[in-house]
Amino acid sequence: MLWALQVLLHLLSSFGPSTDGTSNTPTHTSSKIPDYFDTTLGWFAGPTQTGEAPYLAQTNVAPFAGVSYIPNAPLETQVPIAGNAHNQNIFQRLANLSPYFPSPRGFGVEEYPVPPGSHVQWVNMVSRHGSRYPEMNGRERKLGQKLTEAKGKFKAHGALAFLNDWRFMLGAEILVPIGKQELFNSGTLHYYQYGHLYPNNGSKIIARTTTQKRMRESAEYFLAGFFGLGWTQNATLEMVIEEDGFNNTMAGYKACNRSNWDVAYNATVEWASVYLVDAHSRIKGMISGDLEWTLEDTYNSQALCAYETVALGFSHWCGLFTYEEWEGFEYSLDIGFSAGVGFQSPVGRATGIGYVAEVLARMQHHLITTPEFQINTTLTNNTITFPTHQALNLDFSHDSNIIAILTAYGLTQFADSLPLTHIPTNRSFILSHLEPFAGRLDIEIISTPAPVNSNRTDLENIYLEGKETKYVHFVLNQRTVPLGRSLEECGERDDGWCELGMFLRAQERQLQLADWEYACFGDWEPSGYGSVGDGRPNPK
Ligand SMILES: *[C@@H]1O[C@H](CO)[C@@H](O)[C@H](O)[C@H]1NC(C)=O
Ligand SMILES: *[C@@H]1O[C@H](CO)[C@@H](O)[C@H](O)[C@H]1NC(C)=O
Ligand SMILES: *[C@@H]1O[C@H](CO)[C@@H](O)[C@H](O)[C@H]1NC(C)=O
Ligand SMILES: *[C@@H]1O[C@H](CO)[C@@H](O)[C@H](O)[C@H]1NC(C)=O
Ligand SMILES: *[C@@H]1O[C@H](CO)[C@@H](O)[C@H](O)[C@H]1NC(C)=O
Ligand SMILES: *[C@@H]1O[C@H](CO)[C@@H](O)[C@H](O)[C@H]1NC(C)=O
Ligand SMILES: *[C@@H]1O[C@H](CO)[C@@H](O)[C@H](O)[C@H]1NC(C)=O
Ligand SMILES: *[C@@H]1O[C@H](CO)[C@@H](O)[C@H](O)[C@H]1NC(C)=O
Ligand SMILES: *[C@@H]1O[C@H](CO)[C@@H](O)[C@H](O)[C@H]1NC(C)=O
Repeated sequence: MLWALQVLLHLLSSFGPSTDGTSNTPTHTSSKIPDYFDTTLGWFAGPTQTGEAPYLAQTNVAPFAGVSYIPNAPLETQVPIAGNAHNQNIFQRLANLSPYFPSPRGFGVEEYPVPPGSHVQWVNMVSRHGSRYPEMNGRERKLGQKLTEAKGKFKAHGALAFLNDWRFMLGAEILVPIGKQELFNSGTLHYYQYGHLYPNNGSKIIARTTTQKRMRESAEYFLAGFFGLGWTQNATLEMVIEEDGFNNTMAGYKACNRSNWDVAYNATVEWASVYLVDAHSRIKGMISGDLEWTLEDTYNSQALCAYETVALGFSHWCGLFTYEEWEGFEYSLDIGFSAGVGFQSPVGRATGIGYVAEVLARMQHHLITTPEFQINTTLTNNTITFPTHQALNLDFSHDSNIIAILTAYGLTQFADSLPLTHIPTNRSFILSHLEPFAGRLDIEIISTPAPVNSNRTDLENIYLEGKETKYVHFVLNQRTVPLGRSLEECGERDDGWCELGMFLRAQERQLQLADWEYACFGDWEPSGYGSVGDGRPNPK
């Protein structure tokens, strides 16, 4: 085996330069493909623990008597939820733990077709990975451990009786089956949307992801959905190192020293102590014997519902909570992400700004050669690893990073202040709608023969007087984000588009606002929850 590999490497190396021609010293030989194009190395993959195999035929206690609807999916099983008057779906109230679903209510504008004579000429997607197991250091795992250790010492009753036979069966970090399907489906959908943008001379595009296993696999499943199983003929996957201290715009917090979730987490706990009061005493009342059940355990039980559902297909934990308590759970993560990486976070803009700068560079067809933000300029300073004329740009990232990217773009429509006492139902920041598993932001450039009327219902006058114009169109989870709502340069438009020049001008401002150096490395004083509102440290 090893011998064969060496021969292969030798053969490959003979295609690269072997000497520099001016001295006898052998220079760097390209003996193998560069590490960042090698999807087999497995380095910086993070923890990769597999869980137990699902057995839904056995574990699904549905169908419940009197319910005849059978969902066309193994997930989102029938679970009777108290107080669910309108037959709503709790699996769409799980915030960043929701399996993918398109934004159900949009972001403030209707969708409009591309007018005749206009063309979508460019797209930049950043997609989250698919549904996964809990993270290795996740609090849900600690609850699992605690319950495993307490086995036999307590007795659970009523709706909690399942706990007497329950086992923790989840792995860690890597994709679960539905997570793979989500990315395959997304790749398929994106092919329908943007397949035309793949170069018709058949040259390969560069797609980027990080070295983490779920990130690599998400990209691979997506590309399989987009191109088919032969996707390696159509795309080269570039893997950027995801590890503390490395520059990676798809994991921007890794190079931001002051990234911190403490304020966000404490705020979440404070909100939990409001919305979970009833649930907590209900659950405590179902336990006898030696098990100290805390409020955080009640909270983490909700997360277990989410994780067991995507990993195993069914979870007993889900039915323990009322519909209102699921709305509370969703809101707890709105609070957490808004304060961790959104406009309520002092590093929200800074965390996402490097990625924004890269997209602006792609839009303007230039490289990035001078280090700035968390950009790895070794990869952005040449067109082999950072093509500047690709019409189809596909990147993969994480939930918190994509929220930070939305913040860095200055989309202040999502800058709600979120109280810890009640749920503002009119809020814009609903994490379930912004970043479910496999959530994705598609940024399009649309080229039009003349300016497009901002009044899109005026069908007699689709085009105004003027010359060829380009527009930027943000599509988040299949719905338009109206740029004029947040960026004044863009103006009010029915279709939410923004003229390209105006968009670039607005973004120049955002690059400054992120205040990257100060936000990530400055010695500003942390302040309490609710005191930050613009995604950067408060002025001194
Ligand atoms: C193929 O087309 C792409 C995009 O149109 C272009 O950038 C690239 O240079 C072309 N490659 C070749 C080998 O012609
Ligand atoms: C991928 O590349 C192969 C080989 O060039 C080509 O035959 C195929 O059509 C491409 N796939 C798509 C979806 O364009
Ligand atoms: C930049 O990327 C290259 C290629 O993967 C890697 O060798 C280098 O360590 C990275 N540098 C930083 C600062 O992340
Ligand atoms: C979060 O809460 C813990 C426990 O009450 C406390 O020790 C810690 O100082 C708090 N952290 C912040 C940043 O508020
Ligand atoms: C990584 O980012 C830092 C901060 O901008 C910069 O000083 C450093 O040169 C960057 N490294 C690379 C390889 O771009
Ligand atoms: C890109 O950066 C690498 C490492 O920082 C450097 O060796 C190389 O010369 C640079 N290439 C260009 C084209 O600037
Ligand atoms: C929601 O309603 C409150 C109270 O009327 C108001 O202050 C706030 O601006 C509204 N938020 C949004 C996003 O409309
Ligand atoms: C848009 O155009 C339609 C059709 O001409 C008209 O009825 C409507 O009042 C216009 N809307 C605005 C906001 O001007
Ligand atoms: C990062 O923060 C730690 C303390 O939290 C500090 O010791 C270190 O010097 C900081 N690094 C940089 C580059 O600012």
